[in-house]
Amino acid sequence: MAEGLKVLAAALPADVKVETTEYDLGARLYHRTGETLPDGVLAELKTHDAILLGAIGDPSVPSGVLERGLLLKLRFAFDHYLNLRPGKLFPGVDSPLAGQPQIDFVVVREGTEGPYVGNGGTLRTGTEHEVATEVSLNTAYGIERVVRDAYRRAAARPRKKLTLVHKNNVLVHAGGLWTRIFAAVGEEFPEVSTDYLHVDAATIFFVTQPERFDVIVTDNLFGDILTDLAAAVTGGIGLAASGNINPTGEFPSMFEPVHGSAPDIAGQGKADPTATVLSVAMLLEHLGFTAEAATVEAAVAADLATRTGTRSTSEVGDALAARVSG
Ligand code: IPM
Ligand code: MN
Repeated sequence: MAEGLKVLAAALPADVKVETTEYDLGARLYHRTGETLPDGVLAELKTHDAILLGAIGDPSVPSGVLERGLLLKLRFAFDHYLNLRPGKLFPGVDSPLAGQPQIDFVVVREGTEGPYVGNGGTLRTGTEHEVATEVSLNTAYGIERVVRDAYRRAAARPRKKLTLVHKNNVLVHAGGLWTRIFAAVGEEFPEVSTDYLHVDAATIFFVTQPERFDVIVTDNLFGDILTDLAAAVTGGIGLAASGNINPTGEFPSMFEPVHGSAPDIAGQGKADPTATVLSVAMLLEHLGFTAEAATVEAAVAADLATRTGTRSTSEVGDALAARVSG
């Protein structure tokens, strides 16, 4: 986070001062108070232009507490229906894929619906006849707004290609709705070429032919899984950035690395801040600092192209900030 803020400050024009408020959330707050995201903090956050979220998570906190109580709470409270996750293989970065394919796509993951809503429960809990349900919620309103955004994004890119990923041969109710809305909204974008892949087939193509993708739109859970795979084929989760966007501007959008925390190396100054810095580039872009966002991304690209040896977290941040200001 410190390196991200360093690069942010270096990237902004001299007459633009960024005012930051730091909130100590995550495992530390939880252990101190039992809370994950106090209402007062949520209300204060709402008044900010954007949120930069550091990776959270610690094995001392029961699984699900911070995920639901902090991260998903923020995404839902601020209606971050657009979860943008670029998959880009920068020159000089080793992909585990043979032949270093050209990878440059963006996954538009729905962020507020699907199986993430927490709709479900257990019956006959604790018995050998226990039943658990996890109901995926899909609304026409929710699908249409994210699909339309994905079309707009595709229309603005050189290749103008949009792929819907779902599993409409099995998940016929939700998949049917996604498929119908995808086709209907497509009428507004005749210049965008479209295709459809079942999610299992998509995982094959992510590995065998990632260059075929331009913009991908998919539901919350498929998008979660696919974007970890996207990170893996583009140099690893340490480079993967994301934006949780509320395009209406009613709520602050939130930018975060796709990766979680790394408690095993906490405090040792060896975590790679690149995913956070690339998330800062997305934040700048979102706030209208388009040239500055491009500068940050170019600095990362130049750094990745010339990486040798081991550097500490702050050395990487310093090098990126220097490139951005130079
Ligand atoms: C991510 C994470 C989260 C998700 C978890 C921590 C709730 O895996 O941002 O991809 O599933 O969205
Ligand atoms: Mn994930």
